[in-house]
Amino acid sequence: MATKPRILVFAGSAREASLNKKLARVAAKAVDENGGAATLIDLRDFPMPIYEGDLEEREGMPERARALRDLFLAHPAFLIVSPENNGSIPSLLKNCIDWLSRDVDGHNGLEPYRGKVVALMSASPGGFGGVLGLVHLRLSLTKLLAHVIPEQFPLPKADEAFASDGSLLQGAHLKSVQTVVRRLIETTARLTA
Ligand SMILES: Cc1cc2nc3c(=O)[nH]c(=O)nc-3n(C[C@H](O)[C@H](O)[C@H](O)COP(=O)(O)O)c2cc1C
Repeated sequence: MATKPRILVFAGSAREASLNKKLARVAAKAVDENGGAATLIDLRDFPMPIYEGDLEEREGMPERARALRDLFLAHPAFLIVSPENNGSIPSLLKNCIDWLSRDVDGHNGLEPYRGKVVALMSASPGGFGGVLGLVHLRLSLTKLLAHVIPEQFPLPKADEAFASDGSLLQGAHLKSVQTVVRRLIETTARLTA
């Protein structure tokens, strides 16, 4: 049997009670249940300073950015569940994307992104689920030569969407998560065959 596509799953929020982390946990479970192998990480474990060119020149890429970069390199696909901040990508996530896009040790900054298969989800207490932030995230990752699949899932009213055990209350929401996850796994399997 072919090896299961390895999917790196993470939220664009480090907040303890993050709604996007909740959705990321549901999505990671769906990955494992649909023929993939999820690696669920928390950006809280990868603190790094705000990208700044002089700092980079002085100290190079921060150790936690290198660790996150290694994880990106080790996975053919990512599932990113991100909040929308002011209609765009939250600074925590953008900062990670920017650090990892830098050339390091003679390696091109595109390496962590080029050819990766990516699926996007978002969660927001608002009525649109953070969908506008995904437009910007999609654009940035596409610029970095990742294949961002067309299917995505913005979860609206996310503060009312989860049961106390972390599961999604509405079957329709779970179905949307599964649809995106299946498509991500299928596309990853095809592109890495
Ligand atoms: C600076 C800031 C900007 C925000 N902008 C938006 C926004 O544009 N659209 C939206 O739906 N929610 C916005 N929110 C609300 C977030 O969606 C909400 O706080 C969400 O719970 C954050 O994600 P998390 O729960 O995963 O930490 C914003 C929150 C902050 C702190």
